[in-house]
Amino acid sequence: MKNIPIIVDTDPGIDDFFAIMLANSHDQFDIKAITTVAGNQVLEKTTENALKIAELFKMKARIAKGAEGPINCELRTAGNIHGNNGLGDVMLPDTTRKLDKDYAWDVIYQEAVKSEGKLQLIAIGPLTNVAIALLKYSDLHKYIDKIVIMGGSTESGNRDAYGEFNIWVDPIAADIVFKSGIPLTMVGLNVTMKAGIIPQQLDELLSVTCKFDTQIRQLFTFLQKSYAQVGYSFIAIHDALAIAYVMQQEVLKCKPYYVAVETRGRHSRGRTVVDLDRSHKTKALNAHVAIDVDKEMFIKILKDMLKYYN
Ligand code: BDR
Ligand code: CA
Repeated sequence: MKNIPIIVDTDPGIDDFFAIMLANSHDQFDIKAITTVAGNQVLEKTTENALKIAELFKMKARIAKGAEGPINCELRTAGNIHGNNGLGDVMLPDTTRKLDKDYAWDVIYQEAVKSEGKLQLIAIGPLTNVAIALLKYSDLHKYIDKIVIMGGSTESGNRDAYGEFNIWVDPIAADIVFKSGIPLTMVGLNVTMKAGIIPQQLDELLSVTCKFDTQIRQLFTFLQKSYAQVGYSFIAIHDALAIAYVMQQEVLKCKPYYVAVETRGRHSRGRTVVDLDRSHKTKALNAHVAIDVDKEMFIKILKDMLKYYN
């Protein structure tokens, strides 16, 4: 039964592709909207990708465009990992699908109100749209059940020593979201890298018959090359782990912590400073932070997803 209303806020993105694919395969999710943000590529490209992905999977969700760039700084993209078109230069079939007439932040608010507080917002790109929604609608917090973020890290980053891409691109937006008081789960690099898929596991996934075989093989192959260039022999599909967690909470072990976002650091811009020792006795524990992952369970979830599209 489709009884969990969700919105995926995203910057597709190869791992975003798999996250949307996974969300669409879950029989309990009622995907109200896919909202797009600039991140892995410029907004025009991430939005076109979202439209094409929705077409490929015959999704009914509203597709709404959001922010062209971060709140108070220049956009920096990740073409080195996701390619010039954001999807590993894989060409998905064209679509005549139209964008929603409303912007991402308005759609988030409208759907949150309609859900009467049950909406789960899964944010797998920079947090610009979510922050704008919070700034524009001061009562939004009342209508959101929780926000699950792929972003941040309890350890090192992937854009610099501590900055994880989604938070690093728009640290001011992330700061607003982490301070919102809405129940948050942070699915950071510390778990998404640990859930990295090694070549043998990738072969297992690719051996599952799925009607999107060709695109999936191309996307994985591109990602493998990108990861090899930065020195990894595995690939991480970060965003899909955030979706997997909303589907099946046991895939991650989470603990509540106080998390602050470094908005101005000279050496640690975008760092999610997780108070692991709980030294700030007076600070509220504002996020559930993923600290461990059941990788076997995650791989099984991905296999089941591929079977769904058989
Ligand atoms: C995050 O950054 C993006 O490149 C990915 O899509 C993911 O959301 C990982 O740091
Ligand atoms: Ca993403």
